[in-house]
Amino acid sequence: MDVCTTSGELSLKRENWRQAGMKVGLVPTMGALHAGHLSLVEAISAQADKIIVSLFVNPTQFAEGEDFDAYPRTTEDDLQKLRGTKADIVFMPDASEIYGDAVTASLPAGNLGDGLESETRPHFFSGVVTVVHKLFELCQPDAAIFGEKDYQQLLVIKQMVATHDMKIEILQGPTLREADGLAMSSRNAYLSESQRKTAANLNKIMRALCEDYHTAQALSRLPALEAQAIQKLKEAGFTEIDYITVRDSDTLKTPNLETKNLRLLAAVRLGDIRLIDNCPV
Ligand code: PAF
Repeated sequence: MDVCTTSGELSLKRENWRQAGMKVGLVPTMGALHAGHLSLVEAISAQADKIIVSLFVNPTQFAEGEDFDAYPRTTEDDLQKLRGTKADIVFMPDASEIYGDAVTASLPAGNLGDGLESETRPHFFSGVVTVVHKLFELCQPDAAIFGEKDYQQLLVIKQMVATHDMKIEILQGPTLREADGLAMSSRNAYLSESQRKTAANLNKIMRALCEDYHTAQALSRLPALEAQAIQKLKEAGFTEIDYITVRDSDTLKTPNLETKNLRLLAAVRLGDIRLIDNCPV
């Protein structure tokens, strides 16, 4: 496994692979790798001859006052974990490789970025789209994979690829969970022991909402079920509920009788720590 820190080194290796007719897969990450990330590397290996994993904590997707400085940076540990996978190159650019002199988000997110995450993090998707577009330019992947854990992000990136007519297949990897249902996330490292116990209730309450929906089998019941879930989350000790809502899986709009697939999406806070999760209904 090679480690590249500059786009120059990366493109030389990438060009060799191109000349050999190899298919390249990219796994973009911000590091602090857990089993969920490693499962993405494994999943893309079925579609690619060579795999690039990027590790870059992207400043433009964090707003002032968010956790950019505190975001866990565990590079040695990440590299150690990746040596046990099929990764061929780890790309660890610094901000100037991605942004030059102007560290700003320059691409709009598209309408799938409206609402939900953007209600509380309006800067977020523009930062994500800008960095992912740049990583695609530098790595020239044939395919890239993103976790379903960040479901709205996944749709935003698919939309970006379609809008820019990029010939990159976007794959999605299922959310990996701890034994008690908590979705794996790099930010789980922030949780204290008691917050960690409370956090497990998020997925339990989400599963209960899905079960109740299947019993009720009525879209008209959804607002009441969502309100009930908010109440349960408060009682479980979550300090703020940004949203818990069932949406159309493809458009993220409020579902109607035409909607084929439903997705439950939630974002909650435990003090300063924000957790998100989603699942099919
Ligand atoms: O999901 C993430 O880890 C990040 O948002 C991504 C896609 C690597 C862009 O920085």
